[in-house]
Amino acid sequence: MADIAYVNGRYRPLTEASISIQDRGFQFGDGIYEVLYVYRGFIVDGPLHIARLSRSLAEIGLSTPVTPSALPVIIREVIRRNRVFTGLVYIQVTRGAARRDHAFPNPASRPSLIITARAKPEPPDDISLWTGTAISLPDERWARCDIKSINLLPNVLARQAARQAGVHEAILYDAENNITEGAASTVWAVTEDGVLRTRALDRHILPGCTRATLLTELHTHGIAFAESPISCSGLNNAHEIFLTSATSFVKPIIKLDGQPVGQGIAGPVATALFTFYVEHMRRGH
Ligand code: PDD
Repeated sequence: MADIAYVNGRYRPLTEASISIQDRGFQFGDGIYEVLYVYRGFIVDGPLHIARLSRSLAEIGLSTPVTPSALPVIIREVIRRNRVFTGLVYIQVTRGAARRDHAFPNPASRPSLIITARAKPEPPDDISLWTGTAISLPDERWARCDIKSINLLPNVLARQAARQAGVHEAILYDAENNITEGAASTVWAVTEDGVLRTRALDRHILPGCTRATLLTELHTHGIAFAESPISCSGLNNAHEIFLTSATSFVKPIIKLDGQPVGQGIAGPVATALFTFYVEHMRRGH
């Protein structure tokens, strides 16, 4: 069965689905995206992702091209048509096609909406099969990383540098030598003082939906944490480092810049959060 994409009101085989070469997403990166995980038929953290999509769109002066109630219906239809039981959904909204001019088209062009879905394996039961490695790199992105823009060139280059170094992720640091986030993930660490930390939300990081869910889980389980800066040296001396995202869940980083992190295995905090997150997905929220 062919993969099916939703493109501007139509469900088309992926190989036939197309968009104008004048689309502003293609020409300017003028658009927003979201990635959602589907676990055993349930969309994980759907309302958080939809809310973040709406916020990102508002920040760039775009409205949602379909009504808020229609969007989940279309997402479910794409999942159904692609027969995805566990996998991911990609949503992209751009300012649409118009004659090339940097400023917004006037009159406004019709926004483009694309949704695709594909199968992806479940997280393993054993977290030791889910560990990763990372390098650290300077963050060379723009000043509004809180917007989930489709402009991902610095992220692409950082992830490629990680791949060339033979590791999974690039962990980025700002001009003050504080960690911002991964090329496509939120960064957490248990620092030398034993405190679980993740950077407080600001314009330099994406407000991760997985991050938000895990903060709720931490509250529920009465586990202390701090939304506070993690310095590069703090990261180098951390007992544990882990990444979170819709598609990596909770991923322990056991080697950073070639050096083992802590004991060089998944630590107890990452293991607990991995378990909470998998339970959260299984509850079908
Ligand atoms: N990336 N930070 C960045 C820069 C990201 O790209 C992502 C997600 C996250 C984590 O956000 P969430 O927990 O809501 O997935 C943080 C997605 C998965 C991607 O680009 O494929």
